[in-house]
Amino acid sequence: MRYHNQIDLLTIENKAANDFVSEVDKAAEDAIIDELKYAFPDHSILGEENGEIVGKDKRFVWILDPLDGTTNYLHGFPQYAVSIALYENNEPTHAVVYDPFKEELFTAVKGEGAYLNEQRIRVTGASGFEDTLIGTGFPFKAPQHLDAYLGMFKAIHPKVAGIRRAGSAALDLAYLAAGRLDGFWEIELNIWDIAAGVLLVKEAGGYVGDFSGRDKYLETGNVVAGTEKVFKEILKTIHPHLTSDLQR
Ligand code: IPD
Ligand code: CA
Ligand code: CA
Repeated sequence: MRYHNQIDLLTIENKAANDFVSEVDKAAEDAIIDELKYAFPDHSILGEENGEIVGKDKRFVWILDPLDGTTNYLHGFPQYAVSIALYENNEPTHAVVYDPFKEELFTAVKGEGAYLNEQRIRVTGASGFEDTLIGTGFPFKAPQHLDAYLGMFKAIHPKVAGIRRAGSAALDLAYLAAGRLDGFWEIELNIWDIAAGVLLVKEAGGYVGDFSGRDKYLETGNVVAGTEKVFKEILKTIHPHLTSDLQR
């Protein structure tokens, strides 16, 4: 937050087409890694900017995105977050998504529910597409999927009350957990975008899957999430638009 009013002073690099990284992303990730190493010296860490740090104990892996929503951050559009998850034997056990601008802390512990600050959160009771608000992300880093994506969008759009592209997948999932969205889908996310958000959704009573409704979303990055009914509706509606590449 120290830089959020002086974005013009930042050094920004282009990692790939439309994929920017600033010194803020790097400094935030370094600070988080320092704290994790201090608290859990043996654990492994997978961070977006530093890659994998293999610890003595490979059972515990912290998966982190220091700044999810970098494009928003770099434009002063206040929708971005820090996402940190702990995975034990490939299963998420702890999740934190923090929006430092709005001071909203979303947390979940496996089997203990999900919270926004001190308040317990749950997904909505939406029992179909009617009147729902659905979150999504555009495949701006994977333009080969744009036509398929637009097909999905056209199919969902007339059935729901609204679709939002807010620009931080971690917050999209946190908002779903908090009942601000009823469903979500996006193509080819990275594991650090969703590692924490998926536990928030599950602990809030929601469903998460890949485009076949199975649980390969951490590998494929193709994510559908929602209340039980909205999850199923999204899967059914996007199905005719899946290319062979996306049927996973
Ligand atoms: C991005 C955000 C965005 C999603 C992109 C991600 P980043 O993360 O989560 O919502 O659409 O695919 O890469 O790059 O800002 O950490
Ligand atoms: Ca991200
Ligand atoms: Ca990031």
